[in-house]
Amino acid sequence: MQTDVMAPPPTSLAERFDRDGFVVFEDFVHPAACEALRDRANQIVTAFEPDATTRSVFSTNEQTRTSDEYFLGSGDKIRCFFEEEAFDADGELRQPVERSINKFGHAQHDLDPTFDAFSRTPELAALADSLGFGSHVLVQSMYIFKQPHIGGEVTCHTDHTFIWTDPVSCVGLWFAIEDATVDNGAMWTLPGGHRLPVKSRFRRVTAGDAHAGGTVMDQLDPDPYPTEGMVSLEAAQGTLIVLDGRLPHLSGPNRSPRSRHAYTLHAIDPTAHYPADNWLQRPTLPLRGFRG
Ligand code: FE2
Repeated sequence: MQTDVMAPPPTSLAERFDRDGFVVFEDFVHPAACEALRDRANQIVTAFEPDATTRSVFSTNEQTRTSDEYFLGSGDKIRCFFEEEAFDADGELRQPVERSINKFGHAQHDLDPTFDAFSRTPELAALADSLGFGSHVLVQSMYIFKQPHIGGEVTCHTDHTFIWTDPVSCVGLWFAIEDATVDNGAMWTLPGGHRLPVKSRFRRVTAGDAHAGGTVMDQLDPDPYPTEGMVSLEAAQGTLIVLDGRLPHLSGPNRSPRSRHAYTLHAIDPTAHYPADNWLQRPTLPLRGFRG
């Protein structure tokens, strides 16, 4: 006799993380802490004075050669990157600089006291323990503005593509600093998609290649990620979403009048091999974990 026995629902956070490739924690961060981080982020971009060499545009579609030095040297600094639509046809900003920045990164969690404190709380360390990555180190941070009207799309990708380790160890921590809705560019993901093969690897081009000094996206699997089954991860301010490094995710453009600020941290296992041609290098900063 055949019996229909459904698999029991996962009982622990770690089991849910393993099943879906992500876990959502609502109200993880107090609104006051979100607002303090937003205030500090606004201070950083208001103080930013762009010049010809810092007019770097962030895009996951293409990282231009001209941006390479500014981008590739940002692993141990705090550098601002413009929205693709920030400039008009004459190369002038369409709106004030603080409304034109796509994001800044990639080491404010180590260099700025406000970001350091936000990134290393007992609650976050305990959560990392419970999900099995409590001994990881924080390799990268990004503060993402998703500006009103011009907030850029982020195409479907995995974080492991950009932060490669052997074995795979990258974990993403995505904090909603403002409410994220489908309208203003919430994240979308494919539950269970972390079990699909990773499609690509973004890396530096090393000496000997015609494009040495730049970057390249190696295609490892030509099939695109399926779009069917993707779910939106609308998130109220203070929500934390933890993402497996192999989980495909994306976010649409923001055409709404509301910004969608988010803060992301990426953590890796310090015992895993970290290739010298990963785009992200931190020659001046030792890596620190969730407990400092
Ligand atoms: Fe990502």
